[in-house]
Amino acid sequence: MLLNERYQVIRTLGSGGFGETFLAEDTQMPSHRRCVIKLLKPIQNNPQIYQLVQERFGREAAILEDLGGSTDQIPTLYAYFQLNNQFYLVQEWVEGDTLTEKIEQQGLFSESVVRELLANLLPVLEYVHSKRIIHRDLKPDNIILRHRDGKPVLIDFGAVRESMGTVLNSQGNPTSSIVIGTPGYMPSEQAAGKPVYSSDLYSLGMTAIYLLTGQPPQALEIDSRTGEILWHSHAMNVSPTLMGIIDKAIQYHPRDRYSSAREMLQALQTGGNQTISTPTLVSAPPARLSSQSQPVVSPYSSQPTPSPSGLTDLQKILILGTFISTSILLCFLLIKSFQEVVSKPQNTQKTSSTEPFASRSTVVPTNPTQSTVSPSNVQQSLSLGWIRLGSVNNTLGTVTLGEPLIKTTQPVTISPTVVPSIGTQVTVINGVNLRKKQPQKPDYKLAERTGVVVVGQNLVILNLDYFVDSNSGSPYTTVWAEVGL
Ligand SMILES: Nc1ncnc2c1ncn2[C@@H]1O[C@H](COP(=O)(O)OP(=O)(O)O)[C@@H](O)[C@H]1O
Ligand SMILES: [Mg+2]
Repeated sequence: MLLNERYQVIRTLGSGGFGETFLAEDTQMPSHRRCVIKLLKPIQNNPQIYQLVQERFGREAAILEDLGGSTDQIPTLYAYFQLNNQFYLVQEWVEGDTLTEKIEQQGLFSESVVRELLANLLPVLEYVHSKRIIHRDLKPDNIILRHRDGKPVLIDFGAVRESMGTVLNSQGNPTSSIVIGTPGYMPSEQAAGKPVYSSDLYSLGMTAIYLLTGQPPQALEIDSRTGEILWHSHAMNVSPTLMGIIDKAIQYHPRDRYSSAREMLQALQTGGNQTISTPTLVSAPPARLSSQSQPVVSPYSSQPTPSPSGLTDLQKILILGTFISTSILLCFLLIKSFQEVVSKPQNTQKTSSTEPFASRSTVVPTNPTQSTVSPSNVQQSLSLGWIRLGSVNNTLGTVTLGEPLIKTTQPVTISPTVVPSIGTQVTVINGVNLRKKQPQKPDYKLAERTGVVVVGQNLVILNLDYFVDSNSGSPYTTVWAEVGL
């Protein structure tokens, strides 16, 4: 097959949800040099979408050109073109083996090899992040160990694939409908559509664990109380120092990870004597909010907003919000100590998503099986959006904390399957859409979908809302929650 009347396809290298990857020969180069051709297909294909995908594809290709041109540990982009409503990238072929192939051939990696690999990859990641790009799919399949010099090369940047997921939402605005990443290697904030730079460090940490232990992420146990990934028992001859460095990279909450690739590299070089930070109420870190936890997905750009040395308005608002919510939280705790049960009259529901959760102290904590996280965790949580939890068995629009959630035409999405108190950590048991806001009165129209929350994800309840949706076929009181990490 001769693609674009130029590239002679030799064989398929892989095929994924968005297209295929081929090894080919460039017949219009004197050497007939080999190249890799990536074919990408938009998931929704109509003329309106095509135009948008085309624009995004063009922008992402420009990013790849820039990235690949400045470091030899990212393949050089040779060309890009469109053919029959499909998009193609032509890249440098890196002769080597992916880490997946390598471990299959040679067995487990030793500590020193993993250290060297990390030391060679972290500067590349630092460079990628400095360009405000998050790779979003780091895993053994997407890292090639080059035969020529043994150096690791990063392939398969997520942004380009994301552009193929462009769809029009119900308001007719273009939005990305997909979460890029691989379950197990991607952290929860990314699964919820909000990757941050340290999401890549998490994936790198999980990759290192796989290389050291042979255990893919899905095979590892998780401490159900703390959410900690239990991998040490599988690791033979791995020093506590390296374990500590990896542990910090794979912390559940982005704020507890290394804040940058450089910081992780430094830990690796200096022996990793930095301890895992424990969040405290007073250290609610504005700096982290500004640089680390900032969500970076927007419908049009895969790039995070710049982190200048001064604070942006958004950052100021976040800091102010942090301060106010701390004060409100203290009031909330006082009120909560009275343990009153109050039912919310149906028509007094407030729908503002900015409403502080303290004013929702309408229920009483009665369920001893729920683990409530510390107030500092609530206050520092990175809000992801709103999800539907389930319904309760009444038609009055009231809920009581600890009351069982029931399945109606829709499933219960969290465990424990009861109305949770604010601050409770819950686990998602049914994948659920994440919405920007709770459904809005008067007709409880669903707000824009911003992502999905996958099964197994732990979330903190930040706010509750409940109402009888008169439009729905189900007469029960529906319960929604604002959730965070
Ligand atoms: N530049 C490249 N050089 C050599 N092999 C590559 C290159 N890009 C991709 N491959 C091979 O093709 C496979 C699939 O490509 P990739 O870009 O990861 O697409 P996807 O994971 O979306 O199928 C990779 O796992 C790797 O084995
Ligand atoms: Mg890949």
